[in-house]
Amino acid sequence: MTTLNDYFQSYLTATSADSSSKQSAVVDVINTITAVGKEITELLRKGALADIHGEAGAENVQGEQQKKLDVIANNLLLEALTANKHCAGVASEELDDATPANESGELLVLFDPLDGSSNIDINMPTGTIFSILPHSNKGQAATNAEFLQKGTEQLAAGYLLYGSSAMLAFTFSEALDTNNDGVLLFSLNPTTGEFELVKKNISIDADTKEYAINASNARHWLPPMQQYINELLAGTTGPRGKNFNTRWVAAMVGDVHRILCRGGIFIYPKDTKDPNKAGKLRLMYEANPMSLLIERAGGASTDAIKRIMDYEPTNIHQRVPVVLGAKNEVEYVQKLHQQA
Ligand code: AHG
Ligand code: MN
Ligand code: MN
Repeated sequence: MTTLNDYFQSYLTATSADSSSKQSAVVDVINTITAVGKEITELLRKGALADIHGEAGAENVQGEQQKKLDVIANNLLLEALTANKHCAGVASEELDDATPANESGELLVLFDPLDGSSNIDINMPTGTIFSILPHSNKGQAATNAEFLQKGTEQLAAGYLLYGSSAMLAFTFSEALDTNNDGVLLFSLNPTTGEFELVKKNISIDADTKEYAINASNARHWLPPMQQYINELLAGTTGPRGKNFNTRWVAAMVGDVHRILCRGGIFIYPKDTKDPNKAGKLRLMYEANPMSLLIERAGGASTDAIKRIMDYEPTNIHQRVPVVLGAKNEVEYVQKLHQQA
């Protein structure tokens, strides 16, 4: 049995990282996030008894109603990360602007404190998503502009899944992954309170028969996406010649976790409902971290045409269409869009 602490210790020893290195800073920040993840797990376990259900009574910068647990999770992460000496600033789904932290910090942290908010009150899976970027202006407090880096710049990314068990998935960037462990999965042992290693080098099959999309928006999708889903629905009687199955957790963390465990494709496409919104999901604290995990596991992640991690961000809260998972399937969606 390898605990998260054991793993990080051997990682830092193998990389001969001293306490001031980038690797040990990233490890320290992940430890801070997982400590908060344990607190959120406890709150969710108590559920209605911890007074975490229902609305907080405010809207976030996206114009979405905040749930009580969105606010609680955000405050816990904000407090813990701004106290971490390596963290120069944090940006969150629930905060209009980035919060500067420690001027000497060399890292920036973005997070979706509680993903799948509509699942909280019905005792269904939720999660926390995080993305860690370098802070190049060391010695200066971090502002919004410093966060606007491409997904390819991420040093590490991951999520905590609060499901029937609590799990942690994360990956270092290829450059920092000196042990070549790829995407790692840990499970929280409720008896010891430690995360224990379940799997490493997770790899996603290039082909799949399972897809995730909220089909209630079908009439708003662009024609190539409508065609793609119609082809899947036609099963053995259509051009794909095989039957597909739908799954939708309504929390991206849950859907991405399923894809890391048994493959599949997840789509939140561009639609024409609101011309000001390119998609529903947020580039910097949802799409980019999940893209790093998916690509490092051999999958692909695009906006239907373009690679997500190549986006030059213009706003910390910008939205992006997302098509990620099984490589051949993501490429097939891309082909349909390129032909259109
Ligand atoms: P959040 O709860 O952080 O706002 O994110 C919810 C997102 C994503 O996790 C999920 O895949 C999607 O919204 C669910 O959308 P629908 O409400 O259309 O099912
Ligand atoms: Mn989310
Ligand atoms: Mn959220």
